[in-house]
This record gives sequence, C-alpha cells and structure tokens, in this order.
Amino acid sequence: MSEKKKYYITTPIYYPSEKLHIGNTYTTVAADAIARFKRLSGYDVMLLTGSDEHGQKIQRKAEEKGVTPKAYVDEIVSGIKDLWKMMNISYDKFIRTTDEYHEKSVQNIVQKLYEQGDVYKGAYEGWYCTPCESFWTETQLVDGKCPDCGRPVEMAKEEAYFFKTTKYADRLIKYIEDHPSFIQPESRKNEMLNNFLRPGLEDLCISRTTFDWGIRAPFDNKHVIYVWIDALLNYITALGYGSENDELFKKYWPCDVHLIGKDILRFHTIYWPIILMALGIELPKQVFGHGWLLVDGGKMSKSKGNVVDPVVLINEFGADPVRYYLLHEIPFGSDGVFNNEIFIKKVNSDLANDLGNLVSRTAAMVEKYFDGIIPGPSDAEPVDKELIKLALEAPKKVEKNIDNLKIPEALDEIWNLIRRSNKYIDETTPWILAKDESKKARLGTVLYNLLESLRIVSVLLSAFLPETSGKINKQLNIHITTWDSLKSFDGTKIGSKLEKGDVIFPRIDVDEKLEMLNKIREDQLKATQQASVQPIKDEITIDEFDKLDLRVVKVLACEPVKKSNKLLKLKIDLAGEERQVISGIAKYYKPEDLIGKYVVLVANLKPVKLRGEISQGMILAAATDDDSKLFAVTIPGQLPTGSQVR
Ligand code: ME8
Ligand code: MG
Repeated sequence: MSEKKKYYITTPIYYPSEKLHIGNTYTTVAADAIARFKRLSGYDVMLLTGSDEHGQKIQRKAEEKGVTPKAYVDEIVSGIKDLWKMMNISYDKFIRTTDEYHEKSVQNIVQKLYEQGDVYKGAYEGWYCTPCESFWTETQLVDGKCPDCGRPVEMAKEEAYFFKTTKYADRLIKYIEDHPSFIQPESRKNEMLNNFLRPGLEDLCISRTTFDWGIRAPFDNKHVIYVWIDALLNYITALGYGSENDELFKKYWPCDVHLIGKDILRFHTIYWPIILMALGIELPKQVFGHGWLLVDGGKMSKSKGNVVDPVVLINEFGADPVRYYLLHEIPFGSDGVFNNEIFIKKVNSDLANDLGNLVSRTAAMVEKYFDGIIPGPSDAEPVDKELIKLALEAPKKVEKNIDNLKIPEALDEIWNLIRRSNKYIDETTPWILAKDESKKARLGTVLYNLLESLRIVSVLLSAFLPETSGKINKQLNIHITTWDSLKSFDGTKIGSKLEKGDVIFPRIDVDEKLEMLNKIREDQLKATQQASVQPIKDEITIDEFDKLDLRVVKVLACEPVKKSNKLLKLKIDLAGEERQVISGIAKYYKPEDLIGKYVVLVANLKPVKLRGEISQGMILAAATDDDSKLFAVTIPGQLPTGSQVR
C-alpha cells in the first residue's frame, strides 16, 4: 500500500486568561471540520491546538487572583480541554507552552538564532499593549490606543534583545508575491504587504525583563523570551523540532494551513515566516485569517454583557447545532454575527426540518412498509437517476470546497442533497405506492435510494456534525462509511433491519428558548457587574469627610500635555483664583469640550508634579473599572466658582 498523504493543520494556541467565548471556538471548530474531512478523504492528519500560557497578561491575572501563574493556567487550560471535548474537537495533539519539552526546544531555537547572529542586544522604548502582548510605535497607535484591540497601551522601556527581522524582509516580500495562496484571503495579503512590509519593518524586540513568567533566554538569564516568539514556535516544537526526536516534524512539516483569526495575521505572516527563514525551514503552505464573530451591537465584551458562552449553548442544544451555525452561517474569511434568534431558527429549519425529518420519515416508512427490513432496488426511473447522480457528485463537490477552505459552501452541497432527497419523497409519493401491492418493488427502490442518499449524507456530515452522523448511522443501520464507498450507490445493506430511534433534532419553541437565553445573559451580566464592582471602603466619620474640600470651578483653558496621550492641562477659575490642574482624561475629552464647563475640584489636595507640570488639585470623574468609559463630574447649571460641594 502506498503511504498516505500528510495533512498538517493548526489552530492558534489560546491564552488561558479567561473563559473562551463563542468567537474563540470558531477557529477551532473550523479546523476540526477540515481535519475530520481530510481524515475521511484519506489523509494522515495532524490537527494541533493548545494553550499560550506565558506573558505579562497571565502573570497579572494570576497576581490579581493571588495564585501562582501555573496554578492559574492549569485551571483554565483544563476548562479549555473540557470545552473542546464538549464540542467534539478531534485534535491529535494539545501543546501547552509550559510543557517542559516546548520550553527546552524554544531555548535551543533562540540560542541557535543568537549564535548565528540574528539576535542582538539593544534597548526598547515603545508602547506595549498587555492584553495583546504587542509592541507598537507611536505612529501605529490609533487615538493613542492599541490598533488591534483599542485598549490603552503603556510605555515600556528596557534593555532587550532584538531579532533581525529587517534582514529577511525583502525575501519575505518576494516570497509572498511569488506564492499567491500563502496569505488568504487575498485582501489580507495586500494589507500585510502595504501596511507593514513595504513601508519597512523594524527589528522585533524578543525579550523582556520586567516580569518573570516566561521562558528564560539561554544566552542571558535576566531576560524572558517574548511571548509571541514562544507561542509561534509551538507549531514546530509540538512536532519535536529543536528536540532529540523530530520524527513528527520530518513527517508533517511544512504545515498545510495555519488557521487563525484576522487579528493575529501580522504575527503569522510576517514574524513567523521570518523566524522560519532564519532557521532555514520551509514556510507553511498557507496562513488563513478568518473574520471576526460579532454579536448584535458589535464586538463581544464582558462589560457589555454580550459574551456568548458556548457551554450554555451546548448544554441546551447540543454541540452540533453550535457547530452547524459556526460552520455554515459565518462566511469563511469574513466577519459574521452570532444571533440567538437566527441560531434557533436555523436549527429548526435546516437541522430539524430538512435533515431530521428526512431521517425520521425514511426510517418510519421502512418500518411501516417493510417491517424495518431494508429493501433492495429493482429499477431506475429518471427521477431516481437524478437523485443518484447528485448523490455521487456530492463528495467531490464537498472536497473541492474544503480544499479551498470554503466551509459554508461545502455544507451547502450536502444540504442540496438533503433537500433533493426530501423533494424525491414528494415526487415519488411512497405512501401512494404503499397502497398498491403491485407497486411494492417500486416502493422498495424508492426507500433504498433514500437510505443510500442518507448514507452518503451521513458520511459527509461526519466531518461537520459528528454526533449527528453517528445518530443517523445508528438509526439507519449504516455500517459502510468509508470515502471509497461514496463512489458507488450501493453501500446500504439490503435485508438488514433498522430500528427507528428518537427524533434527532426535536423542534425548538423559538420564543421559549429565546427568553431562556436572554435570561441567562442577563444573569451573567449581573454577575459580572457585581463581581467587577470595587468593594466599598471602610467607613469614615463625618469629621473625616469634612477634611475633603470639594469646590465648583470653571474651566478657563485646556490643552494637551506634551508627549502624553493621557494628560490634559486645565486652567481653572476658583473664586477668582486661577489654578492649573493636570488631569488624566485626554482619552475621553478634547480640550475644547471642557472649556467653559463647571466641574468639581478636590481643592485641598497637596499639589504634585506630573510630567514636569504642577497640578493643584484633582478633577472628579467617574469611570468604569477598565477605564473604557469616563465622565468628568460637571455641574449642570451655573454656580459661583468656589461653591462648596458636599
Ligand atoms: O491570539 N471571533 O490567542 P487568543 C472570531 N495566544 N475569532 C476570535 C474572536 C472573535 N470574536 N475572538 C478571538 C491569541 N478570536 C494568541 C495566539 S498563536 C501562535 C497565538 C480568535 O486566545 C483569535 O483571532 O487571544 C485567535 O485566532 C483565537 O481566537 C485565539 O485568540
Ligand atoms: Mg486575542
């Protein structure tokens, strides 16, 4: 026998920083469907997933919880693994970047880069987005915030090691130009070329000294390896690269596709290929950046309380409806929306009606008209031939779409066959045939054709909806499920007995379930709001409160503080006295918005210097915990300045 063709597909490795939401599961469900399909169609597949456990973000989260980083990630990673189990993710390997073998290999790899002169020591100064673990230059910031996630950045300055990415930039540009399918979809390729590569790269800072939770640089113990270098290398360390046993690496590399979300495309199509070039390793065949899963109203966020929890959906509806929605309703490569109502309606129409009914009706008819014994075909009318043709063409069409990573279109092909089969029942009217004993053979043909179509449907569906496929196989007594068996229309076993089982997808009461999902969401929002509220501080007496001197003041003039994107310099009037106050509200107010406003000043706060500017007091403001929203306290009418606030 000839050796099987190899197929290596990866998902990103996830930050174990909080519970995964439906958007996170999207990449992995898609990768799983592709991997399952490739296995079905004869490939030797390696599906890799895992967790990206180092870095400042994780260290901070652990500190907030008062546990060690390792204890913190252990718990979340076990939750991630549970979720993948619930969703039937058929990964072949789960890598944790805290696995000892990974840490050792990463050290070996960066040591090699250091020794060959691709890593040098310098100093880093720039803006750092901790949630994204990402460095930015001033000009890359958008409104002073992280261009990827829109959250505040902080200034980082430290001694650091740099990777000579610039040395490889031209080679990479040429590679991308010569390999049009390397970055997909196409539009993302142009974005990478035009926004990042062609304007010129800067060498990448690859070490940090301000925290410990990372892999030590073997050439300088004070430094930990930048988490993105650590993370990207997982795609080869998981296969043993950099260790004694690199058999899997030899077997599966180069990777067929790295499946990722569009937010991390820059790392995967610029830094990752450059690292590989420096190591003298072939580049992956493709990096596919899929779109963003949004909810009504935009991005999912904890503070908006619109985070969709996959566990809730799976518990209520099962894994396959969730998989179906993700795989079919989101155009692969573009952004898509998750909406409870559309979700439930789709389950009813596509799964319960189209597919579930077809299975139930077919099984019921075999039971009723043939005592459950599967009949054989005896003739072939044009209507049969049409169905058979469609059924025999379906596998190739699905395969072609999967090869182009067109997952919704692949499912469309399966549903064409499902819908055609339903139509076939209407056209052949088995219930009328059943009334006439002389039409028994014809009735047998019709039911056989339905069973065989459903067998082909079920085999194809095993890649996308594995549980459902298993249920169909059981109900219809399907045993032959190989790819090769889809080449002919005769895999259903004549004479075997089937037993009608439970309905595969019971119809869902839309209003009832919607209400239930909304209630769960409200409860979650309340819970996160309660959890995020700062505890009330210790009681004080009225005398203690009286020490605070709060006054109404009027903003006379306002301008940004130079070299700061956070601070505004305000000139205020306090009963004829002019004061200067520095306030960290530049991200929320333009200077002109404040001029003329009456605000509240803590007037007896000891003056301090901020960025070299004196600040005589503090303006009161209300803000969310994460500083995503802030409002200065203003007086809605005109009071004489200097009026007391009590
Ligand atoms: O980025 N819709 O991990 P991560 C679709 N550790 N996809 C989404 C999404 C949404 N709303 N939100 C997140 C990391 N994702 C790094 C990866 S790989 C060497 C290191 C996707 O946990 C996101 O695009 O922040 C990414 O593909 C995956 O979830 C994990 O994101
Ligand atoms: Mg992310």
